[in-house]
Amino acid sequence: MHKIREKAQLSPNVTRLVVDAPRIAEVRRPGQFVIVRKGPGAERIPLTIVDVDREAGTISLVIQAVGKSTYDLVGLAEGDVITDVAGPLGRPTDLLASGHAVCVGGGVGTAVIWPIAQALAASGVEVTSVIGGRSREWVILEKELRTTGEVIVCTDDGSYGRKGFVTTALDEVCREGGVDEVFAVGPVPMMRACSEVTRPFGVKTTVSLNSIMLDGTGMCGGCRVSIDGASQYACVDGPEFDGHLVDFDSLSDRLTTYREFEQEALARRLACQEA
Ligand code: NAD
Ligand code: FES
Repeated sequence: MHKIREKAQLSPNVTRLVVDAPRIAEVRRPGQFVIVRKGPGAERIPLTIVDVDREAGTISLVIQAVGKSTYDLVGLAEGDVITDVAGPLGRPTDLLASGHAVCVGGGVGTAVIWPIAQALAASGVEVTSVIGGRSREWVILEKELRTTGEVIVCTDDGSYGRKGFVTTALDEVCREGGVDEVFAVGPVPMMRACSEVTRPFGVKTTVSLNSIMLDGTGMCGGCRVSIDGASQYACVDGPEFDGHLVDFDSLSDRLTTYREFEQEALARRLACQEA
């Protein structure tokens, strides 16, 4: 049982939960994730471990409410419990030893970028973060990222920071030169676009793939992704991969496989809530 110690709203549909998980907090490394099940019979949800507090024995999870299971999870209150938190899973981020890294976060993907930026800055790497949201209220973790270096904020509607997608700002930073690696996490079209921005500059680009996961241990094949023409499992070979080698078309196709069922489940949940 994992008690929820804190709950905070980061944007209109993004919530941070701080959860008891002392053994995971002890050994987790940046880039790793957990698979969470709210209770018996509930869906398994892969979530990046956004932060840890080893003394308190807690981990932080950031959840975007998009489907039935994520709405159920963010519906929990401080003091409630989550029955299963399995992890840490996945390979830790392969961190640069020195140089300049650009960390790009699109919307809720900024939560995945935060532990990477934190670890890079702690090891002496210069970090520039480029984060984006649809408008001001969708920009998350700006204050936290400012502790790691420069932050360029972009909004689609120009209500805060620069107007436009994160890719425009990333292109400008790459043109200035001296970038050793880009880490980009967010919606699939954003990670694909970031990888295309960096390709002509020959800058290594690491993306984190949010494929559908069940067991998280390489057994079920649910998280299969195509990297440079070969099948790999995001849960054990990733979740981070070279963005220039990812087959983003097949990733998008696989992510939409269960969309109809997901929409139906959410509609039923919302109808029950109203009744
Ligand atoms: P969003 O659609 O609001 O986009 C956030 C920002 O990403 C935009 O403001 C823009 O700057 C950039 N962006 C979006 N589309 C782009 C494009 N085509 N080209 C260039 N830049 C683009 O994002 P959201 O609603 O916060 O995120 C939801 C998506 O993120 C879901 O699809 C979810 O599955 C995915 N996600 C991915 C990860 C991961 O590990 N990769 C983690 C969590 C969520
Ligand atoms: Fe089952 Fe990766 S989640 S193989």
